Amino acid sequence: MDLYEYQAKDLFAAHGVPVLPGRTVERAEDAATVAREIGTAVVVKAQVKTGGRGKAGGVKLAQTPEEAAEKADAILGMDIKGHTVHRVLVTEASDIAEEYYFSFLLDRANRSFLAMCSAEGGMEIEQLAVERPEALARIPVDAIVGVDRAKAAEIVTAGKIPAAVADQAADVIVKLWDTFVGEDATLVEVNPLVRSPKDEVIALDGKVTLDGNADFRHPEHAALVDERTENPLEAKAKAKGLNYVKLEDGQVGIIGNGAGLVMSTLDVVAYAGEAHGGVKPANFLDIGGGASAQVMADGLDVILGDPDVKSVFVNVFGGITACDAVASGIVEALKILGDSATKPLVVRLDGNNVVEGRRILDEANHPLVTQVATMDDAADKAAELAAGA
Ligand SMILES: Nc1ncnc2c1ncn2[C@@H]1O[C@H](COP(=O)(O)OP(=O)(O)OP(=O)(O)O)[C@@H](O)[C@H]1O
Ligand SMILES: [Mg+2]
Repeated sequence: MDLYEYQAKDLFAAHGVPVLPGRTVERAEDAATVAREIGTAVVVKAQVKTGGRGKAGGVKLAQTPEEAAEKADAILGMDIKGHTVHRVLVTEASDIAEEYYFSFLLDRANRSFLAMCSAEGGMEIEQLAVERPEALARIPVDAIVGVDRAKAAEIVTAGKIPAAVADQAADVIVKLWDTFVGEDATLVEVNPLVRSPKDEVIALDGKVTLDGNADFRHPEHAALVDERTENPLEAKAKAKGLNYVKLEDGQVGIIGNGAGLVMSTLDVVAYAGEAHGGVKPANFLDIGGGASAQVMADGLDVILGDPDVKSVFVNVFGGITACDAVASGIVEALKILGDSATKPLVVRLDGNNVVEGRRILDEANHPLVTQVATMDDAADKAAELAAGA
């Protein structure tokens, strides 16, 4: 889960990383109140889960509380790369001597963590990474060893952070590592990490991605979920314990057992779809091994509730859970769903007990269900039905 800047900075503060005081508001007039409380010039910042807010006009300086309200009024409701601004952070304006870049992230390719650091931070970091990659230091971090003062000092030197603030920066980096590990994040990014005229090092911005696989260790993270920006289908699937991801611009709903099979199902459907006007898979849904009728019904319920879906491809390879159990599950699921099942289903069964599984579906003779023996042919049929709908 990606966090908002203000949430990221709350976590930073909890781990001792220096941040500036501030509060979020949803109404322009409240921005004036917060500015008055802070008592200095403030910066009003759009809270959206996308980058480039400053360039889009979503970060503005305000000298007075009245001006803070005006700026908040302009920013609230703004659209930044498809994200509506519902909330702004009103925070103390800092005098900035220099802007640095810092991040810790999960480096999947190298199966380790990575620190990235540059003395040339700020809003052009993506450009810097492309044009002068040598100016952005990349330092592998051993997950077992972690980051102590010595490692942090190595990162600071590699990033060419000036000696005058090297100690302060190293101290902040150790605390950012505490945040990264302590919160089970896969990304902690600070851009800019600033040097103040008094040589303090402060996190002026924050981007954090939490690892959902570690949610069980962090019941407190549940409070960070913003229902407003959750995809309703994904939220429904999550509530039912389903492994579901909505995909953009797709028309063929997908249900399969096993992540690998589902991934290849997405591929064959995308390929087959090219011959049918470019229809695409609408989601990833792995119902796993041992899928009961209830899980099948829950999966179908979520997928049929997706207005983009025109047909559904159920692709199951019977293993420990044999095809006859899956077939009975489908029949049972369609009974549970009754009239709410309205879109054609293409079912491909193979593997353990396939003959019995196919017989059960044939016998049920449900008007929405078409059986196709192979994965390629089934993908083609599902794409054809989606295109014709
Ligand atoms: N509290 C502050 N005081 C002074 N200047 C600020 C403050 N917050 C941000 N700025 C200035 O605005 C710039 C952009 O702010 P910030 O990094 O938060 O947004 P952004 O980089 O546009 O957003 P994103 O990181 O989402 O791309 C900073 O580089 C900094 O120069
Ligand atoms: Mg930034």
